Amino acid sequence: LASIEVDVSSLQAGMSLTAKWRGKPIFIRNRTEKEVEEAKAVALADLKDPVARNANLPTSAEANDLDRSAGEGKENWIVMIGSCTHLGCVPLGQAGDFGGWFCPCHGSHYDTAGRIRKGPAPENLPVPTFSFVSDTVIKIG
Ligand code: FES
Repeated sequence: LASIEVDVSSLQAGMSLTAKWRGKPIFIRNRTEKEVEEAKAVALADLKDPVARNANLPTSAEANDLDRSAGEGKENWIVMIGSCTHLGCVPLGQAGDFGGWFCPCHGSHYDTAGRIRKGPAPENLPVPTFSFVSDTVIKIG
């Protein structure tokens, strides 16, 4: 299916939007410095799923904050498919024990990099294929 372009110019630090792509919600968040720092401070050994799950990177990429984000220079941006990796509910933003996302269906907590930290979900929220086509427009797919 076609890719979409999303204008993110209105997202100040700390703001998010949800787009729709291939019938799925896509979470786009302009993270605050604090959220990035919190995510960076987590050791890989403390992650339930140590794999980046980032479609833009090799499948072997690790789930460090940089490789979960839009990358060098754009680490504040995170783009993810908003479908809980347990049974597919849509997690809530800025919620849960780790300040990221929380899935209310069965209680999965994701951190500010969308990594599963607690609860039944087995994997980090997946990062779809995307790129910045300008400073304020993200192409997904
Ligand atoms: Fe999210 Fe079960 S679907 S915790």
